[in-house]
Formats: sequence, structure tokens, C-alpha cells
Amino acid sequence: MVADSSTEAREYLIGLLQMEADFYVKGDARDGQEAVDLVRSLAPDLVLIDRNLSGKDIYTVAETIAVNYPGTGIIVIFSDLDPREVRALTTYMDSFLVKPVTREDLAAEVRKVNDSIQKKKTARGGGEGGPQKSQIITVYSASGGSGKSMLACNLAVALMMESKQKTCLVDLNLQFGDIDLMLNLTPENTIVGLAQKQHSGELEADVVEHYLTEHEESGLKVLVAPATPEHSETITLYTVSQTLEALQQSYQYIIVDTPPALQDTTFAALDVSTSILVITTLDLLALHKAKTAMERLRQLYPGDKIKLVLNRANSQVGITHEQVEAHLETRISAFIPSDGHVVVRSVNEGRPFVLSDPTSPIAHRLNALAYEVMGREPPSSAQVGGESGGAGGGDNFMQKLAGMFSGGAKK
Ligand SMILES: Nc1ncnc2c1ncn2[C@@H]1O[C@H](COP(=O)(O)OP(=O)(O)O)[C@@H](O)[C@H]1O
Ligand SMILES: [Mg+2]
Repeated sequence: MVADSSTEAREYLIGLLQMEADFYVKGDARDGQEAVDLVRSLAPDLVLIDRNLSGKDIYTVAETIAVNYPGTGIIVIFSDLDPREVRALTTYMDSFLVKPVTREDLAAEVRKVNDSIQKKKTARGGGEGGPQKSQIITVYSASGGSGKSMLACNLAVALMMESKQKTCLVDLNLQFGDIDLMLNLTPENTIVGLAQKQHSGELEADVVEHYLTEHEESGLKVLVAPATPEHSETITLYTVSQTLEALQQSYQYIIVDTPPALQDTTFAALDVSTSILVITTLDLLALHKAKTAMERLRQLYPGDKIKLVLNRANSQVGITHEQVEAHLETRISAFIPSDGHVVVRSVNEGRPFVLSDPTSPIAHRLNALAYEVMGREPPSSAQVGGESGGAGGGDNFMQKLAGMFSGGAKK
């Protein structure tokens, strides 16, 4: 199927496709809505979508088709090569072409994508019902010290313990990663080994497995960051994207911790993430950075993939959570209270507080967040009670905290 708003371009592409004896053009669409409708009714093996298709933005069109009609391959045709745009669309498209499109390139790309789509269909048909698609959750904040690693560690351990499904934590804070300390690990291998291995070809799932370290108490697997900053230079965005692709084959939940910089390796994770948890705290500098980061992320990714998390939410610092929402133009999806006693002791002991202090309010919050990710209701013991615990508060705000989720973006 062809979707292009320009009549000449549509006819040109259809002409090229019809030159191939084994291709059949089922239909063509002039705008985004028609493209989605036609994919639904014709169920083509493949759709060629022009980047500048009118009516609906390309992200919405590509996402709708990718999510609802996974049997239809998507090739996007760009007028010129903008790496950022290509990156933003990688989650949804199977491949892309840049104009001018030649007969040879088009035929080769269509055959390639079609082959891989057919393979996936056969694989899916084989396993009745099949395993649930794995989720990649990246924790991000433009500020250091905002609680990314705290959240990543505790969420990963909670997911592993509560879901009993394979869970992996990836430390992409390549220069100053501290997940190994937070979990008291003594890793034999780190992501540096994977980067070296990668030079000799694609990373297979069993190879990646070899570089993970087990957190024995929970069974969580961890890909540890380099021991020293200079080692981080060997790690490219390809290492990251191939690693995550390999992990997706065997892990149900993949949690990614990141540094504050929006660097290539971070984007490699954000691109393939199912959700991005953006953390902020209640101070002006953090909010300022969060706003800039949010704007950037919203340019690149669909809004419902980005979730705002307020850490140390009960700090009494003269900024309300309504002001935070207004400033960042986003609803807060999750609130995490401040609890220096529990958190700092847990970090110092190298034991996540969901294990060391499971009855603390902050551990309840993290468990509830894990259930939210799992798409299940928490058992009553993991439910957050009305009592606030922790420091300060006692007002309406604390009741909101107990609610944890303000609803909204969740599908
Ligand atoms: N909710 C919280 N309550 C108390 N202390 C916290 C909380 N969140 C984070 N901290 C503390 O703040 C520090 C920075 O947290 P960390 O997770 O390492 O931040 P980041 O990874 O964003 O740099 C740590 O010492 C941690 O113990
Ligand atoms: Mg950190």
C-alpha cells in the first residue's frame, strides 16, 4: 500500500512497484486518516508512507499502524535525511528510504522488510498466545542527584520480586555508574566487555547473558557500567541498541538507568523504550532543566510514552505540585516521598529499600509503581495506606501522595 499526499509521487511509487512481478499494490491513501483506515481494511503486508503525509502527523500514523496492525510492515520515505527524525521514528517503522527513490532501492527494501515481517508472523503463529511483549522502562532526569538510580534499582528489584518474571537492569550511566554499589555487586563483567565483543558482529542473546551480573537476593540480572570513566568511550549507541534488542528476547522487564546528559547512548535506549520516566524534584534548577528536557523529549517521542515522576514530593519548599504540572505542562504520573532515613541507609548498606525496609511508605510506593508497570492491581499489602509516614505534610497534598497516580496517560 502507498500513502502519499502528492498525486505525482503516489503514481510514481505505484509505477515502480508494478514493475516487479511479485508485488501487488492493494491500494493508496492521500492522507494520514485514509492511510490508517486502508491499512485496517486491506491489511497489506507493507505500507510505504511519505514523511510529509498530510492530515495526521507521521508519528501518530506510524504508531497507530505499528501498534494495531503489527502484521503490516512500514517503510517511511523522507525527502531528506534528518538523523533525529529517523531516530524518532525507529520504534515504529521497519525501514526507510530517502528521495529520490530508485526502482532498485525500493524493490530491495520492500523485499527485505517483507521477509522479516513474514518471519515474525511465522514465529508468532508457532507459539500459541506467545509471551507478553517485553517492556523497556528508561529512567531519566536532566539533573544529577534527582533519584534516578534510586528509582531504577528499587523498581527493578520490585518488578523481579513481584512479577517473578525475568527482569534486567541496565546501567547506562557509563562514566559514573553506581548501580553495582547500590546493589552491592561484585561484577566479573561489565558493558565494556560487550562493546568489545560487538566489534566481531551482532550481539546474540546468549552472549549478552554472559556479561550480566546476578543480584542474588532478588534474582535480578544487571548489566553493570564501566568501572572507570575512560572505558566508557568504547561504548557506542550500537552497543546499546543491540544489547537492548538481545535482552528483549528473554527479559520481560528491562529497566535502564541513565546519566543526566542526553547523549547518543541515552537516545539509543530512549528510542526503544516503552516508557520514559522523567524524574524531577521540587527545586527551581531541577524544574528548569526538566522543562528543557521535556520539550526535547516531546519533540522526539509520543507524549504518552513520557511519564513525569516527582521525587521527594513531600518536601516543603514552597513549590506546589500544581505549579510543577503547570510549568512542565504535564500531569505528574507518580509521586515518591522523601525519606532520607530509609533511602540513605539502604544506599549505604547496598540493599534496595524494597528489600531492606519493605514496610516503609517509600517501599510501598515503589511496589505500587511496579504493579502499575505490570498492569496489575497490587495485593492489599502493597497498597498504599492513608497514613503518610515520612516527613512533613498532613495536608491535601499528602492525600494526593497516597493516591500515587493521578491517572491520565496510562493506556
Ligand atoms: N526520595 C528520596 N528520599 C531521600 N533521599 C533520596 C530520595 N531519592 C534520592 N535520594 C538520595 O539522593 C541521592 C541521589 O540519588 P540518586 O538515585 O543517586 O540520584 P541520580 O541517580 O539521579 O543522580 C542519593 O544519596 C539518594 O540516597
Ligand atoms: Mg545515578
